[in-house]
Amino acid sequence: MTHKPQAKFLKDYQPPSHQVDHIDLKFDLSPQKTVVTANYRLTAKNQTSTVVLDGVELKLLSLKVNGEVHTDYQVTDTQLKINDIPDTFELEVQTEIAPELNTSLEGLYLSDGAYCTQCEAEGFRKITYFFDRPDVLATYTVTVIGDSSLPYLLSNGNKVDSGQLENGKHFVTWEDPFKKPSYLFALVAGEFDLLEDGFKTKSGRDVKLQIFVDKGNLSKAPHAMESLKKAMKWDEERFDLEYDLDIYMIVAVDFFNMGAMENKGLNVFNSACVLANQETATDRDYHIIESIVGHEYFHNWTGNRVTCRDWFQLSLKEGLTVFRDQEFSSDLGSRALNRIDAVNAIKTHQFAEDAGPMAHPIRPEKVIEMNNFYTVTVYNKGAEVIRMMHTLLGEQGFQKGMQLYFDRHDGQAVTCDDFVNAMADATGTDLSQFKLWYSQSGTPKLKVTTQYNVDQKQFQIEIEQLHAAQDPVQLPLHIPIAIELLDADGERVEVTHPEMRDGRVIELKDVKQRFVFEQINEAPIPVLLEDFSAPCTLEFDYTTTQLCHISKFASSDYVRWEALQQLYTQQIRAHVESGADKFEISSDLSEVLKNLFENKPEDLAILAEYITVPNFDSLSASYEQVPVEALCKAIDSLELQIAQILKVHLTAFYFGTQDSGSISAGDVAIRALKNKSLYYLALIDEDVSEALGKQADSTNMTYKLGALRSAINANHNLADELMSNFDKQWNHDLLVMDKWFALQASNKSDTCIDTILSLFDHPCFDKSNPNRVRALVGTFARANPKQFHREDGTGYKLLADLISELNQPNPQNASRIITPFLSFKRFDEQRQSLMRAQLERLSRIENLSDDLFEKIDKALNL
Ligand code: TRP
Ligand code: ZN
Repeated sequence: MTHKPQAKFLKDYQPPSHQVDHIDLKFDLSPQKTVVTANYRLTAKNQTSTVVLDGVELKLLSLKVNGEVHTDYQVTDTQLKINDIPDTFELEVQTEIAPELNTSLEGLYLSDGAYCTQCEAEGFRKITYFFDRPDVLATYTVTVIGDSSLPYLLSNGNKVDSGQLENGKHFVTWEDPFKKPSYLFALVAGEFDLLEDGFKTKSGRDVKLQIFVDKGNLSKAPHAMESLKKAMKWDEERFDLEYDLDIYMIVAVDFFNMGAMENKGLNVFNSACVLANQETATDRDYHIIESIVGHEYFHNWTGNRVTCRDWFQLSLKEGLTVFRDQEFSSDLGSRALNRIDAVNAIKTHQFAEDAGPMAHPIRPEKVIEMNNFYTVTVYNKGAEVIRMMHTLLGEQGFQKGMQLYFDRHDGQAVTCDDFVNAMADATGTDLSQFKLWYSQSGTPKLKVTTQYNVDQKQFQIEIEQLHAAQDPVQLPLHIPIAIELLDADGERVEVTHPEMRDGRVIELKDVKQRFVFEQINEAPIPVLLEDFSAPCTLEFDYTTTQLCHISKFASSDYVRWEALQQLYTQQIRAHVESGADKFEISSDLSEVLKNLFENKPEDLAILAEYITVPNFDSLSASYEQVPVEALCKAIDSLELQIAQILKVHLTAFYFGTQDSGSISAGDVAIRALKNKSLYYLALIDEDVSEALGKQADSTNMTYKLGALRSAINANHNLADELMSNFDKQWNHDLLVMDKWFALQASNKSDTCIDTILSLFDHPCFDKSNPNRVRALVGTFARANPKQFHREDGTGYKLLADLISELNQPNPQNASRIITPFLSFKRFDEQRQSLMRAQLERLSRIENLSDDLFEKIDKALNL
């Protein structure tokens, strides 16, 4: 590698050299030559006669200090250094940018003709010279000038002025009264359809709500609007937090690198996370939209009103806001289903990240490219760390902590320590050891042994915490472990222990600790790490019989799901180990499965989860070396047997149940279980042809997609026809086509790679659109292990070719899809060397982005 980008370290943090209280921005929009004029007063915090501002890919047009042209400055690729300046002065800096040529989707760019911005983390520096860091907080006044083809000219805060200009152009001026860092700045200009509504806050203020979507999409906006109102209400009720501006705007754009962005008063969303109707969106999409709309709204307090001191503190806002959106979804829907989602995200993706070369603590200490740290670790493990505090402090204590946090830090840019200190101080709890969760990476393993003493009626649980050798720091963590004991009849054993919280949580603080429970009349079966009370792996030798017992008598849906997951995992592992061609599922488990259907839980959606086997990624986490073929085969074989065991039940349910076509939880659950049933039945039964065809013709996207997925997964002879019909019906709607691309990419048959290569020429495909890339290539690399890990290396080549193509135009997107390569050391020699060769090839790309450099360098050199 030719140049070596520089890493930044948390330990080197320095406060900003100057203060800026207000910035005035003027944009004269034009695709090739947008002129940005920034005016702000800088006040030095220490004596200095120079200032260094961030700025990237800017053409500097003019620079004035206190109104006078200033010439004593130096410009580099990333900075503007101004010399010979007074302690305090007015700066006017004019820059020119070309939104039309900006393919990175960072800074100011065009999305299908609409101007929009993405500034987090460090995109503002592509707009003007400024302190592009989260600890410089200022109020903003923004004037946007555009021609008549851009009816809406939007920015943060309240509209304070607008009018016509001579040259056929018009302008709008916006004022955001709340101090914010540059990453929360936003500008949008374009032609949209607008959905309007309102919300009255609990103190009686009226807030105008607006959702801007591409022309023609108005009928797909109401679900996002309903979600927004629910989020506003929920935050008032659960967190006592009220919205603070008179207007809240959401804009949906088609070209976007992530899900959505919480810019103050002007969220910008990936259109995939806004648009939905029953015909185009699945029930899952509805759920995701609600949770993301909530997430961005909740940032208004956790992220915007109180923001991050520096980017190493990202989890301060993201971990906390994910926790809040998870609670929102759980309070409004099913807590168990949401918990299953969250745990799956950790087990499938976060554990893998923790075990690979990009492992980092939820508060990273070293970063080359900040965009690489919007990770499952910072977000999802970060949320688990917040959840552990919630477990330790209880809802009341936690809310007291939140209140103190806002009392102390509203309007400030703070650290993760500040948050934990507020939690500790508000409740008088010692969280000093707990803080280690912020600085240690890796997944702790809990090794548990138990012992029952008949004579003394004592039950002992010994727990040891083990930390992977790769972590430099090996200090024991403070781990809340929820447990429950079941007796032979499946009854919950009442336990008392002096150090137990709520009768269910013990706290592990030492490397190894023994907990003794008295007056236990018979040897109980322990349920350990209930509700996934800490982001750890559990090592405990459950017998199949014990797990079946738990799954029968579990006191909660989550515990039952977890026991079933462990049962499936056991079966699959045993099969992989035996190396046998066929394996037979344990008869105990088979009984349990039938029982699930004979005594159906009230929530049918949870039943669909019960009969879902763990995916390849979460299963492979427990292998030193991933046995690709054997694992794929074992999963297939287990699914086939489940299908056979439940054939009668699934058939009865599938053909005997109707939903009523609504998006109520009950209907969603019926569709989930019917889809799961069809998926299994398609594996064993030719008779489902009619059902597949009928369901594929449904006007409900959840059903339609369920039919196609079942057909493709079972390699059913109807699959091609159904897929081609779908293409014909939906090729006018790119978001719908993403579902189709993803299905093509998940096809386990050997034609998959050729299909993908030919789909690059499909009229709907576009490599410059991240949604398309993720649907087709992202899905292939993440969710089709059989074809991605082909021994001829063609799967690896496909991914590497695309990464290489995206390196220049969109480094962020290129860097996101490289993840499957990073764990190459976990595979056999042949696959390792194939993947390594691709990584080495990528490392030699000319102008390799910092994003890719950081990951490839770590993967190859760790
Ligand atoms: N802060 C955003 C969120 O969590 C995510 C985000 C960070 C983002 N960087 C981005 C979104 C770049 C789009 C593009 O909601
Ligand atoms: Zn967020």
